[in-house]
Parts: sequence; C-alpha cells; structure tokens
Amino acid sequence: MKLIFATNNQHKVEEIRAVIGDKFELLTLQEAGIDIDIPEPHDTLEANASEKSKTIYRMTGTSCFSEDTGLEVAALNGEPGVKSARYAGDDRSFDQNIDKLLINLAAKEDRSARFRTVVSVIIDGKETLFEGICEGTVIKERRGGKGFGYDPVFIPAGADKTFAEMTLEEKNLFSHRKKATEKLVAFLNIL
Ligand code: IMP
Repeated sequence: MKLIFATNNQHKVEEIRAVIGDKFELLTLQEAGIDIDIPEPHDTLEANASEKSKTIYRMTGTSCFSEDTGLEVAALNGEPGVKSARYAGDDRSFDQNIDKLLINLAAKEDRSARFRTVVSVIIDGKETLFEGICEGTVIKERRGGKGFGYDPVFIPAGADKTFAEMTLEEKNLFSHRKKATEKLVAFLNIL
C-alpha cells in the first residue's frame, strides 16, 4: 500500500520509516511532489493532526497520515503542549524554545513531562486516530547532539540518557512517535 506521510520534518520521517519498514510504501510530501507547509492552527494535537491528513487527502485522494506531537510539562499545566513548535514565538528555533522552557521550569521542583503524539490516518476517506505517550523528565542543561526539538533536555523514564544522546534505535525503544506508529502499523496490517 502507498501512503503519504504529511510532513516536511526529515527527523520524523526517519523515525517512522524505522518502525514501518518496507511493508508499506511511505512517501514524504516532497516525494509526493507536494510543496506546502500545512498550518497547525488548532488548540489540540488531535485537531492539528486531522487538519494535516485531511488537507493532503483532499489534494491527492491517496491514503495518507500525519502526526502532531507536543511536550506536556506537568508543572506548566501541560505547556508547551500543542504550542511546542512555537513556544518562544512564531519562527523560533529549537534552541530558543528550549531556553524558554528551562527558564519557566527554573523554580519548579516537579520536572516531570511527557511527549504525546497523535497520528491521524485516512484510508479510503475514513479517518482513524492513534496516540503514543512517553513519560520522562526535563533536565536543567542540554545533553547530546542527536535528534531534534526538545530532545537534548528530555530523559525518558527508565533511561539515563537524553533522547539527543541516543541513536535512533535507542530513542525508538521509548519514543511516543514509535508507540503511535506501532498502533498505526497494527491497524494497517488488519485492513
Ligand atoms: P510538530 O508540531 O508535531 O511538528 O512538533 C512540535 C514541536 O514539538 C517540534 O517543533 C519539536 O520542537 C517538538 N517535538 C516533536 N517531536 C519531538 C521529539 O520526538 N523530540 C523532541 N521534540 C519534539
């Protein structure tokens, strides 16, 4: 089955390809010849994931999926959450977002947080949603140079390295995205 993954984020593509394997033909937006940046205007991960997959399905009529992910920090009432990409403002870098997070957490004792991924898949016009969660802790200083986003300051529960200190295979032992993608693969396998 041919599936378009509605993202321009190469890190996400690599993480998801490692889970999906060769069983399904995964096309990125670029590989499908689609040159758009799909907006994420909503206030939930579910609504943004849905908007992305529905946009691509409308444009192509091809089965597709998208995902939206947020870092939900307990002591910040779930922020940055759905605003994770724009936490420090529109067009801000990963580094500026991390800086803001560390400042806002500086006086907090509870540094627990979780990544939550919502996948929206559309097969033959019908949408299904899946969720994957990775619990963990936000540390006080960056560690590691791999990965993307908040990876340098997040240690998943049960690990002693940040996501940015892990190989892709190690990150996928814990990852929110891996868990959501496994549910997607199980669903595709029974179609
Ligand atoms: P998106 O809206 O799903 O692209 O993700 C929002 C933001 O969350 C990204 O810009 C990253 O900063 C962050 N993010 C998403 N997934 C991860 C991850 O696996 N590790 C670290 N940060 C992530």
